[in-house]
Amino acid sequence: MTSHPLEPDDAAMREMTRAVAEFVRRHVATLSEQPAHDLDGASAIAAALRTPVPEAGAPLDAILGDLAPAVAKSFNAAGPGYLAFIPGGGLYASALADFVACAVNRYVGVAKAAPALVQIERTVLAWLAGFVGYPASAGGILTSGGSLAHLSAIVAARADRLPDDFLRGTIYVSTQTHRSIAKAARIAGFPAANVRAVPVDARLRMIPEELAGAIRRDRGAGFSPFLVVPTLGTTNTGAVDPVPAIVAIARREGLWVHGDAAYGGFFRLVDGGDALLPGMADCDSITIDPHKGLFLPYGTGCLLVRDPAALRRGHADERPAAYLADVSGADDDAGFDELSPELSRDFRGLRVWLPMRLHGLGAFRAALAEKLALARFAYDELRRDPRFEVLDEPQLSIVALRMKGRDDAANAELMRRVNARKRVFLSSTDVDGKYTLRICVLSFRTHADRVEDAVRGLREEAAALAR
Ligand SMILES: Cc1ncc(COP(=O)(O)O)c(C=O)c1O
Repeated sequence: MTSHPLEPDDAAMREMTRAVAEFVRRHVATLSEQPAHDLDGASAIAAALRTPVPEAGAPLDAILGDLAPAVAKSFNAAGPGYLAFIPGGGLYASALADFVACAVNRYVGVAKAAPALVQIERTVLAWLAGFVGYPASAGGILTSGGSLAHLSAIVAARADRLPDDFLRGTIYVSTQTHRSIAKAARIAGFPAANVRAVPVDARLRMIPEELAGAIRRDRGAGFSPFLVVPTLGTTNTGAVDPVPAIVAIARREGLWVHGDAAYGGFFRLVDGGDALLPGMADCDSITIDPHKGLFLPYGTGCLLVRDPAALRRGHADERPAAYLADVSGADDDAGFDELSPELSRDFRGLRVWLPMRLHGLGAFRAALAEKLALARFAYDELRRDPRFEVLDEPQLSIVALRMKGRDDAANAELMRRVNARKRVFLSSTDVDGKYTLRICVLSFRTHADRVEDAVRGLREEAAALAR
C-alpha cells in the first residue's frame, strides 16, 4: 500500500483484483456441488461477525476468509438446485459490469452528468420496452426491484387518474397478487382497506366479471376506482390473469392497468411467448424484474410505462433544487431523478447492458425456453404419479403440488425431507387454505438433472411417508 491507503497503487490494485477474482471463481466453479441450502452453524458465524469497527486495516485475504463461511451458510440462491420462492440469477457478466460501474463511479442520476452512460441505461430501457411490446415512445426506470417498481407505478397512476386529495381511490388486485402491491399502496398513502382482492377462477386467475362487479359497487359507495393490477405470472403458481378482458373493463371504467410481470414478463421472449402473456402490451405500466427472468443479480427491477409523462408527473419535483439548475434536463430529456424517487443511485444499466451485449438475446431466449420445458417435465412426471395432486398445468415455470389425501403436516414433512437431501431447495405456499409445495424453475443454472432430482426426491420421500 502507498502512503495513501485509500488509494492502492497499481501493483496493489492488481493483487486485490486477483484475490477477489479467485474468490469468486472458486465459488462459482463449485456452485453445482454446493448444497442447495446450508444453514448448519449459520448463527455462530453470524455472531462472530458482530464486531466493532477496526481502527487499522487488515489484509484482504483475511477479510475474504471471513466472508467465505458467511456465503456458504445460506440458501444457495444462485445455485442450480434452488427451486424455491423466485430463484435468483447472478450472471457472472453482471458482476463484472458492477465492478466497472462502481470503479468508474460516474453519476447517472441526472442526464447531463454522463450523457452517454445515461444513454446506455435508456437503451436498456428501450430494449426492455420492446420485449413487452411497447412502442418507442414508452419509457421507464430501472429500480432496485419489483417492489419499488410497483411503488412508482402506483404513484404514476395516482398522478394520472386521481386528484391530490386521493384517499377515496381504490385499487384492484386478485387474491393471488404479490403482497408488494398492497405494501406499495400503503407507502403511497392509500388506506389498506382501499385495496380490493378480486376472487380467482379454478386456475387461480382474476375473474373479470368479479372485477367489474367490485368496481361498480365501489362507485356506488362513493369511491374512485383508479387502478387494477393483473399479474402476469403469480408467485404462488405462475398463473397469468386474463389481461385482455381486464384491460377492456379498465378502459370502459377509466382505470390505469399496471401489469405485475415481475416474475413472468421475460417469458414473452420465447417463441410463442405472446400467447403465454396475451395483452401484455396493452397495460399502462408493467413491472418486469431483470433480477428474476433475465438472471441478473438482486437489485435490478424495472418499471415500464406507455406514457412516461405520467411517471414524471408523479415524481418530478415542481421546484428542482437550485444547486441542480445547471444540470436539470429539458422537458424531453428527463433524468432518472425526475422519473423515480431517487437522485443519487448506482449505474444499474450497465449490469443489464453488458451481459445482453456479451451473450446476445438468443442465449436468454434459449435459457427461458429451457425453464418452461423443465417445469413441463416436472408436471408431466408428477401428474402421472397417483400419490400427487398437481394443482394445474404450468402456465409458466412453476409447478404447485401436494400429496393426495394427506394433510398439511404430512406435506410440510415431505418438503422438509426433500430439502434435507440438499440437492434441491423447494418452498411452500398456501393455496385455498392448504399447504402447497412449489417447484419454481427460473435459474439459468438449473438444468434437467436438477429437476429430475427434485422429482425423484419427491417420489422417494412420498413413498417413505406412506409406509
Ligand atoms: C410477482 C411478483 N411481484 C413482485 C415481487 C416483488 O419483487 P422484489 O422482490 O424484486 O421487490 C415478486 C417477488 O418475488 C413477485 O414474484
